[in-house]
Amino acid sequence: MKRFISFEGGEGSGKTTVIERLSNELNQLGYNIVKTREPGGSKIAEQIRDVILAIDNTNMDFLTEAYLYAASRRQHLVDIIIPALNEEKIVLCDRFIDSSLAYQGYARELGIEKVYKINEFVTNGFLPDLTIYIDVDPSIGLKRIKSNNRKVDRLDMEAITFHQKVRQGYLEVAKLYSNRIRIVDGNRDIEEIYNEIKNIVMAIL
Ligand code: TYD
Repeated sequence: MKRFISFEGGEGSGKTTVIERLSNELNQLGYNIVKTREPGGSKIAEQIRDVILAIDNTNMDFLTEAYLYAASRRQHLVDIIIPALNEEKIVLCDRFIDSSLAYQGYARELGIEKVYKINEFVTNGFLPDLTIYIDVDPSIGLKRIKSNNRKVDRLDMEAITFHQKVRQGYLEVAKLYSNRIRIVDGNRDIEEIYNEIKNIVMAIL
């Protein structure tokens, strides 16, 4: 059975809403679910998150940023993901390694390969069983964030061209890992997005 599922997408792709709903429905069906997120997900990992996303840390070096995401991922794996999988639970994770490949590797231009290497070191090559990438046009995604009144962080403040690059990065990463990553069209109504994702997930459980 496939039990480690990550969700990826640019800002305002709707993935957090999808995970919340999916987790509730799967719970009701009797599945044992752990819902978690990156960066963060456990005490120390959340402390690292605060450093990465603080809006006044505008001069953070890109490689420092990549290492901090990786450090936070390591702690989250050890504290939450691995124990949950050992207890046969299903893990729904809001962002994982592909965020680093798309944001730091591609959009920050550190190189997908190089950022994968940093992450391979902290994960021992461990990857999700399935990754859902919700592909959304950044202009639509950013509009959704604004209308939700969500707290704005350092990465949200990047120009639209950065978010467009992140999207291209995700599409590159999805090509590299086409067996693991499923692309879902996120430019639709949240209901349609949710139903498609639920079908994909139910089919592998
Ligand atoms: P968050 O508020 O969790 O974003 P969202 O609600 O869009 O998931 O903030 C996480 C930010 O960090 C987001 O802009 C994506 C970015 N990020 C990376 O750049 N690299 C990573 O490895 C991860 C996990 C996130």
